[in-house]
Amino acid sequence: MRQPLIAGNWKMNKTATEGQALARAIREGLQTQTVEVVLCPPFTAIPAVHAVLQGSSIRLGAQNVHWEDAGAFTGEISPVMLKEWCQYVIIGHSERRQYFHEDDEMIRRKVLAALRHGLIPILCVGETLAQREAGETGTVVATQTRRALEGLSPEQAAGLVIAYEPVWAIGTGRAATGADAEEVIQRWVRGTLEELFGPEVARRVRVLYGGSVTPENIAEFVCRPTIDGALVGGASLKAETFLGIIHETARAKA
Ligand code: PGA
Repeated sequence: MRQPLIAGNWKMNKTATEGQALARAIREGLQTQTVEVVLCPPFTAIPAVHAVLQGSSIRLGAQNVHWEDAGAFTGEISPVMLKEWCQYVIIGHSERRQYFHEDDEMIRRKVLAALRHGLIPILCVGETLAQREAGETGTVVATQTRRALEGLSPEQAAGLVIAYEPVWAIGTGRAATGADAEEVIQRWVRGTLEELFGPEVARRVRVLYGGSVTPENIAEFVCRPTIDGALVGGASLKAETFLGIIHETARAKA
């Protein structure tokens, strides 16, 4: 059985002080043990949020990581630094691919580096609107998944989290339909995992949907057995909406 997971990607929002207040409100409002909850603040807020989460079941994640352990990489953060604070790290988010020119090879190295230090990657994959309209969704998602995971052992792959996030659905208020997300995840994400690592790994990996998730539409996704939860951006910045998504997920998966 895969435990449902809701992860909040705060992106470049919240100071340490603001992050602490948000994390405290989420901790105090959380009413379920069945859904795993992960907060991904910006780097500067991670220690403050960590302090607020002490003794709770809520986990911490970072939004990016470098592939080297240390060295002359100005402005970067290594997995060795993160593992003092975090259990998870988002890798290959479409905003990193688009604005910071991360390619599949960089993403593959980041996944390996995270795993080497016991961090769980939340690997993001997804097609752009142009790719969807050209009928390339399946190829794009399968290729991104394959290239990010080449060289992993089945044991390493089994511990991963993958987020299917169609780029056109991120921050647009225009979510995919549940049926669309289900089809892409089952056929192209789990299908590729099965090709690479076999059916057991394809069943064990947790796969999330991301892109304009709200308390109102989350059930549409998590009512489907192949979708284990969500990676939430905008709606994770308010305790009320983020808690709504978590509690709807607990209800739908019960
Ligand atoms: P959104 O972002 O929920 O604001 O669409 C999702 C994401 O980028 O992970």
